[in-house]
Amino acid sequence: MLSSRHVLSIADLSADDIARVLETAESFAEVNERRIKKLPTLRGLTVINLFLEPSTRTRTSFEIAAKRLSADAINFSASASATVKGESLRDTAATLGAMACDLVVIRHRFAGAPRMLADMMDCSVVNGGDGMHEHPTQALLDLYTIRQRLGKLEGLRVGIVGDILHSRVAGSLVRALRIVGATPVLIGPATLMPSRPDVLGADVVLDLDEVLPSLDVAYMLRVQSERASGMPFPSVREYAALWGMNAARLGALPSHGIVMHPGPMNRGVEISADVADDTRSLVLQQVEAGVAVRMAVMYLLLGGADSGAAA
Ligand code: NCD
Repeated sequence: MLSSRHVLSIADLSADDIARVLETAESFAEVNERRIKKLPTLRGLTVINLFLEPSTRTRTSFEIAAKRLSADAINFSASASATVKGESLRDTAATLGAMACDLVVIRHRFAGAPRMLADMMDCSVVNGGDGMHEHPTQALLDLYTIRQRLGKLEGLRVGIVGDILHSRVAGSLVRALRIVGATPVLIGPATLMPSRPDVLGADVVLDLDEVLPSLDVAYMLRVQSERASGMPFPSVREYAALWGMNAARLGALPSHGIVMHPGPMNRGVEISADVADDTRSLVLQQVEAGVAVRMAVMYLLLGGADSGAAA
C-alpha cells in the first residue's frame, strides 16, 4: 500500500512509498520479460484512462500496465473543450463514478484538475500530467531507469536541461530526486527558468558546457513550443547550439554519465539524432520502465499488496 490513496503529486509520496514503488516495479519488469505477460492481480477492477490532452505513449503505457494486471482498462474520451470548465469536470466525475470504476488516470491541460477530480470521486486518481504542474509517474519511471543503470540514486547529480518553465516532468522530477537524496541541477536559458527556481529547491546553472563534467545524468527536456507564449529563444539553431545534447557534449559527461529524455523527442533541437540512438541514451529504457512502474503504482493503490500476487 502507499500512504495516500491517490498519486497526484510526488508530494503525496514518502521516501518509503518511492522505495516500495521501485521495488515492486522490479518484480513486474521480470513479468514483462516473459512471453505471457499477464497476471490475475487486478481481475475484476476497472481502470479508466481520461486523457484530455494529446498523448500516445503515456496513455498506452497506462493501458498496457492495467491490462497486464488483468484490470479492465477503458479509454474514456471526452472532448477537451467540454471539460475545461470546473462544472464539466464535475459532470465527468459523476459519470465515471456512476460507472463504478476503481481508478482513474487523468491527463489535463489545467494544473490541479487531478486534485479536483480526486476530491469529487470515491476511487483512486493518478495524475498522468496536469498542465505545467506535475507528472509523477514519469518521475518514478525516471528514478527506476537511473537506478537500474547507475545502481543507486543517493548522491547523484542530475542535470535537467532546457524548458524548465513549462515542464511538468521537471516539476515532479526535482521533487522526486530530492526525496531520494540526489541533487537536481536546473540548466537552461534564463527565459525558460521558472521565476522562483528556489521554490523547487534546485541549483540553477546557465552554462551547460561548464556543468556537464560534474553530472551523472543529463536529462533533456522537450522544448514545449505549444505552451510558450512568444519565442523564448532566437532560433531553433541557437537553442541546439547552446542547450542541445550532441556528440561533443556526450563526450564531456563523465564516462558513466547517461542521457535521458521523456519523449517525444525533437531530434536536432534538444537532442541530436546520433545521441538519441547512442547506447548511453536511455530513452527506450525509460519507456520500458514506464509500464512496470505504472503496474506497480496501480497494484499498490488498489490494495494489491494484500494479495501477495506480485511475484
Ligand atoms: C511529457 C508530457 O507530456 O508531459 N511526455 C510524456 O509524458 N511522455 C513531456 C513532454 O511532452 O515534453
